[in-house]
Amino acid sequence: MPTATTLSDVFPLGARLNERGRVEVGGCDTIELAREFGTPSYVVAEDDLRARARAFLRTGREAGAEDLQVVFASKAFPCSAVLALFAEEGLWCDVASGGELHLALGAGFPAGRLVLHGNAKSEVELRVALRARVGAIVIDNFDEIERLQRLISDGALAARDGADGGGDGPAAPQPVLLRVTPDVAGETHEKISTGQANSKFGFGMVDAREAIARVERVEGLELQGLHAHVGSQLLSLEPFRRAADALATLGEFPVWDLGGGLGVRYLEEQTAPPTIEEYVAAVVQAGAGRSRRLMIEPGRALCANSTVTLYTVESVKQNVSRWVAVDGGMSDNLRPMLYGARYEAHVADRFGGSSACVLAGKHCESGDVIVREALLADPRPGDVVVTPATGAYGFAMSNNYNGVPRAPVIFCREGDARVVVRRERVEDLTARDVRAR
Ligand code: LLP
Repeated sequence: MPTATTLSDVFPLGARLNERGRVEVGGCDTIELAREFGTPSYVVAEDDLRARARAFLRTGREAGAEDLQVVFASKAFPCSAVLALFAEEGLWCDVASGGELHLALGAGFPAGRLVLHGNAKSEVELRVALRARVGAIVIDNFDEIERLQRLISDGALAARDGADGGGDGPAAPQPVLLRVTPDVAGETHEKISTGQANSKFGFGMVDAREAIARVERVEGLELQGLHAHVGSQLLSLEPFRRAADALATLGEFPVWDLGGGLGVRYLEEQTAPPTIEEYVAAVVQAGAGRSRRLMIEPGRALCANSTVTLYTVESVKQNVSRWVAVDGGMSDNLRPMLYGARYEAHVADRFGGSSACVLAGKHCESGDVIVREALLADPRPGDVVVTPATGAYGFAMSNNYNGVPRAPVIFCREGDARVVVRRERVEDLTARDVRAR
């Protein structure tokens, strides 16, 4: 009888080829998952998410951080079940819109553990955040300072949920951080690089001093510190250190938030990114003696490798290339099309393989290619194909292009599978129509 084999760390923790030679995630056989829940589906190993959250927290403690807050960047996987799990693990949550704020509160994050981001926050979003008493609002620009000042003069703090709202004494001030663009370029795709001087986010180093002075003059705002996010999918720790050095030139503050950005491995052949342990140790060291509370906002590193996507092969054709077309594509994973991101693909019950194939999606454009250079084992219609490392920004950027209903999210743990987001139905496609005819 064949024995089980552990899969590479591109796959979720604990994923393996089981005795039947099939990919297993969270103790569940992916062929059986595909049969039971259909495809495409996002399959999440619940224990993987927990293990990574715990690794961040544990390493923070071990690195000697007195007060390290790990803030999940919800944009990476804005799914209530994922948010609820991280809330339960004691993380904070970064929300970048009123919608993400709504999701995070609904999933059980106390408002005091939320950080509101955005370069174009609306008055409504700010009002909702003030009312909820979020843990911090990260101020991005001068217009936002004015807008907050106006809202506070209009009584936004007195209207707050909780004890001191509406009382006689002055309402507690709103903690804020100031987002600074440290003029540090991380080596990553230009679309996810944010730390450079010419960025749409934050205050440049010159404006930051003026912004600090202005925020400090607004009664009702408590400037706790500074924020910098250099970019995403960073594979070196140097940019984080340089960003911290830049922040240190702006004065002393009790709180520093060094953003997210730790990269992950998408292909087994890629060199390993820094581990969670190495990353946390580096940022803790960069913040040591400079801020009392250190915050970090990992998104991708908490969830990318927790998840695989299952597809079914619909057709195989040979012309110049061998085209293997599956039942999903750019509606469930836009990353290859937007950033040229590369993924692995395997037939779920014939792992490995040597036929060079193009794994194409079902959408009506030629750019809809999930994996350009896949090596598959003689793929045939009906086969289940697995692409690992789709947990970050897959579900998050899913869409209904070509009227394709969005895929469900299935949580797997110790052999049990449960649907946490159901598959969209075609009826959902018209759910918002008011009057079509
Ligand atoms: N904090 C802030 C302020 C951010 O803007 C981001 C990501 C994060 C934290 C989390 O970064 P992470 O740890 O996930 O790298 N859709 C793109 C990624 C966009 C990232 C935007 N901001 C992708 O699929 O690669």
